[in-house]
Amino acid sequence: MKKNLNLLHCRESAEFIKKGIRGVPKVGIILGSGLGGLVDEIENKSIIPYSEIPHFPVSTVEGHRGEMIFGFLNAVPVLAMAGRFHYYEGYDMDGVVFPIQVMKILGVEKLIVTNAAGGLNPDFEVGDLMLIEDIISRLPDNPLRGINEEEFGPRFPDMSEPFDSDWIALTLSKAEKLGISLKRGTYLGVTGPVLETRAEINFFRIIGGDAVGMSTVPEVIAANHLGLKVLGISVITNESIPKVAKEFTHADVVDVAQRSGRKLVKLVKAIVN
Ligand code: 6GU
Repeated sequence: MKKNLNLLHCRESAEFIKKGIRGVPKVGIILGSGLGGLVDEIENKSIIPYSEIPHFPVSTVEGHRGEMIFGFLNAVPVLAMAGRFHYYEGYDMDGVVFPIQVMKILGVEKLIVTNAAGGLNPDFEVGDLMLIEDIISRLPDNPLRGINEEEFGPRFPDMSEPFDSDWIALTLSKAEKLGISLKRGTYLGVTGPVLETRAEINFFRIIGGDAVGMSTVPEVIAANHLGLKVLGISVITNESIPKVAKEFTHADVVDVAQRSGRKLVKLVKAIVN
Protein backbone atom coordinates (compact mmCIF):
# COMPACT_ATOMS: atom_id res chain seq x y z
CA MET A 1 0.00 0.00 0.00
CA LYS A 2 2.53 2.49 1.22
CA LYS A 3 4.95 1.78 -1.61
CA ASN A 4 2.27 2.06 -4.31
CA LEU A 5 1.51 5.53 -3.03
CA ASN A 6 5.24 6.23 -3.11
CA LEU A 7 5.42 5.35 -6.82
CA LEU A 8 2.46 7.61 -7.56
CA HIS A 9 4.08 10.47 -5.64
CA CYS A 10 7.40 9.92 -7.42
CA ARG A 11 5.63 10.14 -10.78
CA GLU A 12 3.83 13.34 -9.81
CA SER A 13 7.09 14.90 -8.62
CA ALA A 14 8.81 13.84 -11.83
CA GLU A 15 5.99 15.27 -13.96
CA PHE A 16 6.30 18.59 -12.17
CA ILE A 17 10.09 18.75 -12.61
CA LYS A 18 9.81 17.74 -16.28
CA LYS A 19 7.69 20.81 -16.95
CA GLY A 20 10.41 23.05 -15.48
CA ILE A 21 13.38 21.70 -17.46
CA ARG A 22 14.40 21.52 -21.10
CA GLY A 23 16.07 18.18 -21.70
CA VAL A 24 16.36 14.70 -20.26
CA PRO A 25 18.92 14.39 -17.44
CA LYS A 26 21.40 11.54 -17.89
CA VAL A 27 23.54 12.04 -14.80
CA GLY A 28 22.23 12.79 -11.32
CA ILE A 29 24.52 14.50 -8.83
CA ILE A 30 23.98 14.78 -5.09
CA LEU A 31 25.95 17.66 -3.59
CA GLY A 32 26.97 17.17 0.03
CA SER A 33 27.41 19.80 2.76
CA GLY A 34 29.45 22.73 1.48
CA LEU A 35 29.87 21.18 -1.97
CA GLY A 36 27.36 23.34 -3.79
CA GLY A 37 30.20 25.01 -5.77
CA LEU A 38 29.56 22.62 -8.63
CA VAL A 39 26.29 24.43 -9.32
CA ASP A 40 28.26 27.40 -10.72
CA GLU A 41 29.70 25.12 -13.40
CA ILE A 42 26.31 23.98 -14.67
CA GLU A 43 25.23 25.89 -17.78
CA ASN A 44 21.76 26.86 -18.95
CA LYS A 45 20.37 26.17 -15.52
CA SER A 46 16.78 25.64 -14.49
CA ILE A 47 16.47 25.84 -10.71
CA ILE A 48 13.55 24.25 -8.92
CA PRO A 49 13.26 24.72 -5.15
CA TYR A 50 12.26 21.55 -3.35
CA SER A 51 9.47 23.48 -1.68
CA GLU A 52 7.72 23.82 -5.05
CA ILE A 53 7.92 20.14 -5.99
CA PRO A 54 4.87 18.13 -4.93
CA HIS A 55 5.62 15.46 -2.31
CA PHE A 56 9.25 16.56 -1.88
CA PRO A 57 10.58 16.68 1.68
CA VAL A 58 12.08 20.04 2.75
CA SER A 59 15.77 20.31 3.61
CA THR A 60 16.60 21.70 7.06
CA VAL A 61 20.42 21.70 7.41
CA GLU A 62 22.62 24.78 7.14
CA GLY A 63 24.97 24.64 4.17
CA HIS A 64 22.36 22.79 2.14
CA ARG A 65 20.29 24.79 -0.29
CA GLY A 66 17.27 22.68 -1.08
CA GLU A 67 17.07 22.95 -4.86
CA MET A 68 17.05 20.74 -7.93
CA ILE A 69 19.27 22.17 -10.63
CA PHE A 70 18.93 20.97 -14.20
CA GLY A 71 21.48 22.04 -16.77
CA PHE A 72 24.53 21.02 -18.74
CA LEU A 73 27.99 20.03 -17.57
CA ASN A 74 30.33 19.60 -20.57
CA ALA A 75 27.15 19.45 -22.69
CA VAL A 76 25.90 16.47 -20.65
CA PRO A 77 22.39 17.01 -19.25
CA VAL A 78 22.62 16.72 -15.47
CA LEU A 79 20.22 17.01 -12.57
CA ALA A 80 21.91 18.11 -9.37
CA MET A 81 20.50 18.12 -5.87
CA ALA A 82 21.81 21.02 -3.81
CA GLY A 83 20.83 19.71 -0.42
CA ARG A 84 19.84 16.17 0.47
CA PHE A 85 17.62 14.59 3.08
CA HIS A 86 19.27 12.95 6.06
CA TYR A 87 17.76 10.28 8.25
CA TYR A 88 18.78 12.24 11.36
CA GLU A 89 16.54 15.12 10.31
CA GLY A 90 13.58 12.89 11.03
CA TYR A 91 12.54 11.78 7.56
CA ASP A 92 11.80 8.12 7.19
CA MET A 93 13.89 6.20 4.69
CA ASP A 94 11.27 6.64 1.94
CA GLY A 95 11.76 10.39 2.17
CA VAL A 96 15.54 10.16 2.13
CA VAL A 97 15.63 8.19 -1.15
CA PHE A 98 12.55 9.75 -2.78
CA PRO A 99 14.56 12.16 -4.98
CA ILE A 100 16.68 9.29 -6.34
CA GLN A 101 13.57 7.45 -7.45
CA VAL A 102 12.25 10.65 -9.04
CA MET A 103 15.56 11.09 -10.88
CA LYS A 104 15.23 7.58 -12.32
CA ILE A 105 11.73 8.32 -13.61
CA LEU A 106 13.10 11.48 -15.24
CA GLY A 107 15.68 9.46 -17.19
CA VAL A 108 18.80 9.54 -15.02
CA GLU A 109 21.09 6.54 -15.68
CA LYS A 110 24.11 7.39 -13.57
CA LEU A 111 24.45 8.95 -10.13
CA ILE A 112 27.35 10.79 -8.53
CA VAL A 113 27.02 10.98 -4.75
CA THR A 114 29.21 13.34 -2.74
CA ASN A 115 29.43 13.99 0.97
CA ALA A 116 31.48 15.46 3.80
CA ALA A 117 32.84 12.74 6.06
CA GLY A 118 35.11 12.14 9.01
CA GLY A 119 38.35 10.31 8.25
CA LEU A 120 38.82 7.06 10.19
CA ASN A 121 41.83 5.91 8.20
CA PRO A 122 44.99 7.34 9.82
CA ASP A 123 46.51 7.85 6.35
CA PHE A 124 43.85 10.41 5.52
CA GLU A 125 44.29 14.14 6.01
CA VAL A 126 41.73 16.86 6.37
CA GLY A 127 40.82 18.11 2.92
CA ASP A 128 41.51 14.79 1.16
CA LEU A 129 39.08 13.40 -1.37
CA MET A 130 38.16 9.73 -0.95
CA LEU A 131 36.72 7.67 -3.77
CA ILE A 132 34.11 5.46 -2.13
CA GLU A 133 34.73 1.84 -3.09
CA ASP A 134 32.25 0.23 -0.74
CA ILE A 135 29.83 1.02 2.08
CA ILE A 136 28.99 -0.32 5.52
CA SER A 137 25.53 0.49 6.85
CA ARG A 138 25.17 1.18 10.56
CA LEU A 139 21.69 2.58 10.02
CA PRO A 140 18.81 0.85 11.80
CA ASP A 141 16.62 0.78 8.71
CA ASN A 142 16.81 0.13 4.99
CA PRO A 143 15.01 2.23 2.35
CA LEU A 144 13.79 -0.93 0.62
CA ARG A 145 12.13 -2.44 3.67
CA GLY A 146 8.45 -3.07 3.00
CA ILE A 147 6.54 -4.11 -0.10
CA ASN A 148 8.95 -4.14 -3.03
CA GLU A 149 8.22 -1.70 -5.84
CA GLU A 150 8.82 -3.99 -8.81
CA GLU A 151 8.84 -1.01 -11.19
CA PHE A 152 11.91 0.25 -9.39
CA GLY A 153 13.87 -2.96 -9.00
CA PRO A 154 14.15 -6.48 -7.59
CA ARG A 155 13.19 -7.62 -4.09
CA PHE A 156 16.77 -8.62 -3.25
CA PRO A 157 19.11 -6.24 -5.04
CA ASP A 158 22.71 -7.28 -5.49
CA MET A 159 25.09 -5.09 -3.51
CA SER A 160 28.35 -6.87 -4.24
CA GLU A 161 29.48 -3.91 -6.33
CA PRO A 162 27.55 -0.85 -5.15
CA PHE A 163 29.87 1.47 -7.10
CA ASP A 164 30.53 1.03 -10.80
CA SER A 165 34.04 -0.38 -11.31
CA ASP A 166 34.51 1.08 -14.79
CA TRP A 167 33.49 4.52 -13.54
CA ILE A 168 35.89 4.15 -10.59
CA ALA A 169 38.73 3.29 -12.98
CA LEU A 170 37.89 6.29 -15.17
CA THR A 171 37.80 8.58 -12.14
CA LEU A 172 41.19 7.37 -10.90
CA SER A 173 42.78 8.02 -14.28
CA LYS A 174 41.17 11.47 -14.63
CA ALA A 175 42.30 12.40 -11.12
CA GLU A 176 45.85 11.39 -11.92
CA LYS A 177 45.82 13.48 -15.11
CA LEU A 178 44.52 16.48 -13.15
CA GLY A 179 47.09 16.00 -10.40
CA ILE A 180 44.36 15.50 -7.83
CA SER A 181 45.32 12.92 -5.22
CA LEU A 182 42.46 10.56 -4.50
CA LYS A 183 42.28 8.31 -1.48
CA ARG A 184 40.13 5.19 -1.71
CA GLY A 185 38.11 3.44 0.91
CA THR A 186 34.92 2.29 2.58
CA TYR A 187 32.28 4.78 3.74
CA LEU A 188 30.54 3.81 6.94
CA GLY A 189 27.10 5.35 7.34
CA VAL A 190 25.62 6.16 10.76
CA THR A 191 22.35 7.84 11.67
CA GLY A 192 23.75 10.80 13.58
CA PRO A 193 23.11 13.50 14.60
CA VAL A 194 25.63 12.74 17.34
CA LEU A 195 29.24 12.35 16.29
CA GLU A 196 31.06 9.17 17.21
CA THR A 197 32.38 8.29 20.64
CA ARG A 198 36.03 7.25 20.86
CA ALA A 199 34.98 3.64 21.39
CA GLU A 200 32.80 3.79 18.27
CA ILE A 201 35.65 5.26 16.26
CA ASN A 202 37.83 2.30 17.31
CA PHE A 203 35.03 -0.11 16.47
CA PHE A 204 34.32 1.45 13.06
CA ARG A 205 38.00 1.28 12.16
CA ILE A 206 38.20 -2.37 13.21
CA ILE A 207 35.19 -3.34 11.09
CA GLY A 208 36.69 -1.72 8.01
CA GLY A 209 35.52 1.88 7.82
CA ASP A 210 37.80 4.48 6.25
CA ALA A 211 35.38 7.40 6.50
CA VAL A 212 32.24 7.96 8.56
CA GLY A 213 29.23 10.09 7.80
CA MET A 214 25.48 10.55 8.15
CA SER A 215 24.33 10.32 4.53
CA THR A 216 24.92 8.47 1.27
CA VAL A 217 24.20 4.87 2.36
CA PRO A 218 20.40 5.02 1.80
CA GLU A 219 20.80 6.80 -1.54
CA VAL A 220 23.38 4.27 -2.76
CA ILE A 221 21.08 1.40 -1.78
CA ALA A 222 18.12 2.96 -3.61
CA ALA A 223 20.26 3.75 -6.65
CA ASN A 224 21.46 0.15 -6.86
CA HIS A 225 17.87 -1.05 -6.58
CA LEU A 226 16.98 1.24 -9.50
CA GLY A 227 19.86 -0.11 -11.59
CA LEU A 228 21.73 3.20 -11.68
CA LYS A 229 25.49 3.24 -12.08
CA VAL A 230 26.89 4.93 -8.99
CA LEU A 231 30.05 6.85 -8.18
CA GLY A 232 30.76 8.18 -4.69
CA ILE A 233 33.26 10.75 -3.45
CA SER A 234 33.79 11.93 0.14
CA VAL A 235 35.57 15.07 1.24
CA ILE A 236 37.40 14.31 4.49
CA THR A 237 36.49 17.29 6.65
CA ASN A 238 37.96 16.17 9.97
CA GLU A 239 39.91 13.34 11.50
CA SER A 240 37.93 10.81 13.50
CA ILE A 241 40.88 9.14 15.16
CA PRO A 242 40.73 8.56 18.92
CA LYS A 243 44.04 10.24 19.77
CA VAL A 244 43.52 13.09 17.37
CA ALA A 245 39.77 13.59 17.46
CA LYS A 246 39.13 17.08 18.64
CA GLU A 247 35.99 19.02 18.82
CA PHE A 248 34.75 20.45 15.59
CA THR A 249 31.52 22.07 14.53
CA HIS A 250 29.24 21.77 11.57
CA ALA A 251 30.66 25.13 10.44
CA ASP A 252 34.16 23.54 10.33
CA VAL A 253 32.80 20.71 8.22
CA VAL A 254 31.20 23.13 5.75
CA ASP A 255 34.35 25.28 5.68
CA VAL A 256 36.70 22.39 4.79
CA ALA A 257 34.18 20.99 2.31
CA GLN A 258 33.96 24.34 0.56
CA ARG A 259 37.74 24.63 0.29
CA SER A 260 38.30 21.06 -0.89
CA GLY A 261 35.18 21.38 -2.98
CA ARG A 262 37.24 23.07 -5.69
CA LYS A 263 39.19 19.86 -6.30
CA LEU A 264 35.95 17.94 -6.29
CA VAL A 265 34.32 20.30 -8.81
CA LYS A 266 37.31 19.89 -11.16
CA LEU A 267 37.16 16.13 -10.83
CA VAL A 268 33.40 15.82 -11.30
CA LYS A 269 33.59 18.07 -14.38
CA ALA A 270 36.28 15.83 -15.84
CA ILE A 271 34.30 12.63 -15.35
CA VAL A 272 30.99 13.90 -16.68
CA ASN A 273 31.89 13.82 -20.33
CL1 6GU B 1 33.43 12.76 12.23
N1 6GU B 1 31.11 11.84 11.78
C1 6GU B 1 29.96 11.78 11.14
N2 6GU B 1 29.09 10.88 11.57
N3 6GU B 1 29.63 12.57 10.12
C2 6GU B 1 30.53 13.47 9.70
C3 6GU B 1 31.75 13.58 10.32
C4 6GU B 1 32.01 12.72 11.39
N4 6GU B 1 32.45 14.56 9.70
C5 6GU B 1 31.68 15.03 8.73
N5 6GU B 1 30.52 14.38 8.72
